[in-house]
Amino acid sequence: LITHPFDVVVFGGRGDLAKRKLLPALFQLDRDNRLSEDGRIIGASRGNLDDNAFRALVEQACHDFLPEKAFDTKTWERFSRRLSFVGMDATQHDDYGALKKVFEGREEVPRVFYLATAPDLFGPITRSLGEAGLITPETRLVLEKPLGHDLESSHEINAEVGQVVAEHQIYRIDHYLGKETVQNLMVLRFANSLFEPLWNRTYIDHVQVTVAETVGVSGRWSYYNGAGALRDMIQNHLLQLLCLTAMEPPISLEANAIRDEKVKVLKSLVRIAPNEVAHLTVRGQYRAGAIDGKAVPGYLEEQDAKGGSDTETYVAIKAHIDNWRWAGVPFYLRTGKRLPQRCSEIVVQFRSPPHFIYPDTAGPFPPNRLIMRIQPDEGIRFQMLNKQPGPGELNLRQTALDLSFADTFGTVIPDAYERLLLDVIRGRPTLFMRVDEVEAAWQWTDTILNAWQQQNVPVKHYTAGAWGPSAAIALIERDGRTWHEED
Ligand code: BG6
Repeated sequence: LITHPFDVVVFGGRGDLAKRKLLPALFQLDRDNRLSEDGRIIGASRGNLDDNAFRALVEQACHDFLPEKAFDTKTWERFSRRLSFVGMDATQHDDYGALKKVFEGREEVPRVFYLATAPDLFGPITRSLGEAGLITPETRLVLEKPLGHDLESSHEINAEVGQVVAEHQIYRIDHYLGKETVQNLMVLRFANSLFEPLWNRTYIDHVQVTVAETVGVSGRWSYYNGAGALRDMIQNHLLQLLCLTAMEPPISLEANAIRDEKVKVLKSLVRIAPNEVAHLTVRGQYRAGAIDGKAVPGYLEEQDAKGGSDTETYVAIKAHIDNWRWAGVPFYLRTGKRLPQRCSEIVVQFRSPPHFIYPDTAGPFPPNRLIMRIQPDEGIRFQMLNKQPGPGELNLRQTALDLSFADTFGTVIPDAYERLLLDVIRGRPTLFMRVDEVEAAWQWTDTILNAWQQQNVPVKHYTAGAWGPSAAIALIERDGRTWHEED
């Protein structure tokens, strides 16, 4: 709950992210009575909208992107009074005068500048905000991903922004950290005594991190084509999941204590050398196919597509963390678009028992697996062997302890952006990335990008609706392991 007044300015206030996520999330927070009465939301963007036209746009966005049940007119009346619009070109220094007026008499009020714009504007906008005297001690600056294109561009942005705003005022978003199930990863590991003693190379065979999507590039072809799955998903979301799975217990929940541990994991990731890249990674691109019986176009036939692109829409990587806990334990990462199911999960596979006394006739028996399901059907599942009841032959069966968040907690899981926006307004940085974290992640992904380029690693095609190229299956199966598939 926010009890103090606040101002949130969304740059790119009419853009896709604002409409899809940010403004609907703020609406939901208001509906749940989490926003103080004196809290204002200001859209900033090019265009000659007046406040009412902006309100109409936000109302439409709430209808379009929230479940029907989530909208109610009483909340809308209250929420719409918070909204206003400043028409400005963020690249034009003179336009910041109009924004300055909005804050007259509210110099002490905590203010948030949310930059939902292209990353090449982060530096210029921050500089202009500084020059216009808009950065107060109670200012927080939110930077959306992608934070640059590679280590160098990310470093330039961070340096430029860092000249104007102190690190503790910068909130770098990775929306995966706002997901309930991702936050629960730390609780599972560090608030229970069962798992942690087993959480190492002695008991764990390998880890899989999967983020599978059924969507294609969703009308963002030109952004996506310049990025590809490695930059769009691995550099941030999958590496964050890997960090939370692999990190050492932090000394406290304080933001820097957690970030310190995550940075150590990123720094321990073994760099993939050019001569290994074809063996340890797979790039894929989808061709036309069908998902859930519905025909979908190939990547090169998507809206705005230009022919001949070699951008990857799928990546699989066999990664290693070179430290005491994880020596020799592979972390298999995979993510892709137009896969058969939407599913994000972390699978920890334990080693088989050292000596198996049961007759092997009905085997081979699968080892224990702990599956942390991030979305959808959020939950935790532990697969293990049990005796099939009955007086006859001894039969073992794979069974599961299954915890569904929806059934257990009976609540609707909030959108990640709700939690993150609340934290920004409250000034809590734990779920945001520190500069060295972002840069360490880029450092690792850059070695892969460079190796791909140097070795001319082409994309392998897969049919939309399949689990990526066959080479991705081979990546894990040649180690005698298999990708997890829900039975
Ligand atoms: C974004 C990527 O960061 O995450 C998108 O840019 C991707 O390409 C999205 O679709 C996935 O997020 P979620 O929350 O739907 O898993």
